[in-house]
Amino acid sequence: MPPSSPALSALSAAAERNKQPILETLRGFLPDQGRALEIASGTGQHVAWFAQHLPGWTWLPTDLRDTYFADIEAHIQVLFQASVAEGLRGRVEAPRLLDVQQEPWPLQDARFDLIYCANMLHIAPWACCGALMRGAARHLAPGGRLVTYGPYLEDETPTADSNLAFDASLRARNPDWGLRRREDVAEAAQAAGLRLAARHTLPANNLLLVWQIG
Ligand SMILES: C[S@@+](CC[C@H](N)C(=O)[O-])C[C@H]1O[C@@H](n2cnc3c(N)ncnc32)[C@H](O)[C@@H]1O
Repeated sequence: MPPSSPALSALSAAAERNKQPILETLRGFLPDQGRALEIASGTGQHVAWFAQHLPGWTWLPTDLRDTYFADIEAHIQVLFQASVAEGLRGRVEAPRLLDVQQEPWPLQDARFDLIYCANMLHIAPWACCGALMRGAARHLAPGGRLVTYGPYLEDETPTADSNLAFDASLRARNPDWGLRRREDVAEAAQAAGLRLAARHTLPANNLLLVWQIG
């Protein structure tokens, strides 16, 4: 019998589409186990999906706003109800407030094998990029990875029309928003002591970028 689902008030159609391609890409390079911090969790669809399908990993979801926390909890609740027989309870901690710009992050000395941030850099002021990189450099465990996912501009790659239109619509909504040049993001990373270790192309003109210390 399918598990009964708590009411989910927010469901991102994009997150439903992209969670599986992202998962498959993560599986290609992540070790079998580790501890992950998610920045900008939003509705929690990604963390719930990844926790379900990466059995050796534990997750701490966070966001700038707590308005999504009921949705994150609800998605996790669905995961727990579906998975209780497999003993999966406990893979996802309760969501916490974390604004990347409030440095230091409220995580004490916690270290993570993965820091995952999807679709934030273009829907936040540019200063958030440097803050994300500095926070990640501080909280990555040795050998750990920061993963950023979303649409980017790249000097050597023609920008898809859909991304140009998305960029224009973001800037119309908020002049501080907009797609980021991958090269600018790499500079901000370098200033924090991180380097681009891998670049994966994903569906719908998105990139999954892997950043590591060194
Ligand atoms: C488009 S949603 C992405 C949600 C989810 N990661 C996904 O890909 O579906 C952007 C998220 O970034 C969060 N955000 C914006 N500014 C932030 C900041 N300064 N620190 C942390 N999160 C932030 C928003 O609250 C929102 O949940």
